[in-house]
Amino acid sequence: MVAMVDSPADVRPDGAEAPVLLAVQNVSLAFGGVKAISDISFDIREGEIRAIIGPNGAGKTSMLNVINGFYHPQEGTITFQGKVRRRMRPYEAARSGIARTFQNVALFRGMTTLDNIMSGRTLMMRKNFFWQALRLGPALNEEIEHRRRVEEIIDFLEIEHIRKTPVGKLPYGLQKRVELGRALAMEPRLLLLDEPMAGMNLEEKEDMSRFILDVNQQFGTTIALIEHDMGVVMDISDRVVVLDYGKKIGDGPPDVVRANQDVIDAYLGVPHE
Ligand SMILES: Nc1ncnc2c1ncn2[C@@H]1O[C@H](COP(=O)(O)OP(=O)(O)OP(=O)(O)O)[C@@H](O)[C@H]1O
Ligand SMILES: [Mg+2]
Repeated sequence: MVAMVDSPADVRPDGAEAPVLLAVQNVSLAFGGVKAISDISFDIREGEIRAIIGPNGAGKTSMLNVINGFYHPQEGTITFQGKVRRRMRPYEAARSGIARTFQNVALFRGMTTLDNIMSGRTLMMRKNFFWQALRLGPALNEEIEHRRRVEEIIDFLEIEHIRKTPVGKLPYGLQKRVELGRALAMEPRLLLLDEPMAGMNLEEKEDMSRFILDVNQQFGTTIALIEHDMGVVMDISDRVVVLDYGKKIGDGPPDVVRANQDVIDAYLGVPHE
């Protein structure tokens, strides 16, 4: 298992708490008669790894979908970087600094690792289509810069050996890593990871835990992480929010949450996948 984080990112060396990067306030979301999220509030502080846990169907993925603009809640607000966010679409959320990975890998299977990660930069391309099409002048310089950043990410994730491999041919664990690479290519302030270790063996989980910690520590990226493996959650997260049937039943540092009787009853000690 990876090492414990000794100094939680939400408490700075001077003892002051880090500022709130994103606040979810009284958010409710229903699909027809199904209440996926009921009046949930929590915040994510700058620089922390914030885990979101709970049994199947608890509303975890729905919550990430609200945060990245895919779903619009019927009630409540999302405040990001101090501003109450208006209704926005996922690409607008991405431009504002929120990137994500998906519970089921969502890559272009016929495209190479390199091109998949490059696709994460598309949103950031500024020069207009005319220049892009001619591959001249400003667009060419911009493309060189994008390629340089993508190569850095490939180095960082130790996937040089598969840069030209179509991702559909890769084992599942590596596909998850490529998907992380594509999200990193957006240079997010807030990275949303939906079960990045689901279906992995122990070694792959350890690798992924290390990359998540490195992203957090080296790039200073704030991370919201949905994960069922409690060992991983206890090891790498600073604070944990627990959902059950769309309600929040626990919120705090991992050791406090682990001792919470409601959380134990609803979730811990029950096998998950
Ligand atoms: N698009 C949708 N349409 C209708 N119901 C939905 C939709 N998305 C989610 N739900 C329902 O909302 C509830 C919460 O689902 P959600 O996927 O957010 O749970 P989860 O905590 O991510 O679960 P899991 O651990 O299985 O991934 C479930 O009852 C689910 O069936
Ligand atoms: Mg889910």
